[in-house]
Amino acid sequence: MVNEKELVGVAAAQYVEDGMVVGLGTGSTAYYLITELGRRIKEEGLTFTGVPTSIQSAELATSLNIPIASLNDVPAIDLTIDGTDEFDPALNGIKGGGGAHLIEKIIAVNSKRVIWICDHSKQVDQLGAFPLPVEVIPAASQHLLYAFEDKNYAPTFRLSLDGTKFVTDSGNFIIDLHLEKIVDAAKLADDLIQMVGVVEHGLFLGIADKVLMANDGQVVEFNG
Ligand code: 5RP
Repeated sequence: MVNEKELVGVAAAQYVEDGMVVGLGTGSTAYYLITELGRRIKEEGLTFTGVPTSIQSAELATSLNIPIASLNDVPAIDLTIDGTDEFDPALNGIKGGGGAHLIEKIIAVNSKRVIWICDHSKQVDQLGAFPLPVEVIPAASQHLLYAFEDKNYAPTFRLSLDGTKFVTDSGNFIIDLHLEKIVDAAKLADDLIQMVGVVEHGLFLGIADKVLMANDGQVVEFNG
């Protein structure tokens, strides 16, 4: 059986060209992208600088001898390739299943081009079945949870495997909103970002230029 994440991750690595600065996504699909980029450096002499979107991706890149830099140290990012948890026909998406959406969004909005890579399960007609992650300042978190409950957003704290609250790379908590369907994503995004203590939500609206999706052993392309 074809590993769709591997198929699309390897295919996406072909978009990286010598001399580029490349945002490196986070997650199980980005894992295959980064691994293939490491292979291309070793076997093809590809030269580029990676800007990782998480500690996890930075560690993977470093282990593969991919040169990395932080966003603050590069003039611009040519291309970011990252996974997604959902994408709709307008290429709007939900990200943050891996808890990295804050840095992923910062790097994406500072990129000239953004490509998402995914298996076919991520394609939806309407966003919202995947719980929407909201990164919050710990000191505000309990009262934000109450506020989300009042709005019927069915919020839950993201937990780590040991049962403690998940802590992001930036030292914050994540509250997942179990919305089922998001009717007006732009309005929800505006409402969330105005709540004091919310750092960033996982709605990525108008950010992706292209989605590469594996389906039936092929890579299908969607363009924004
Ligand atoms: C991490 C993310 C990931 O890109 C998203 O969760 C997709 O992950 P995967 O490729 O493992 O399905 O947003 O914060």
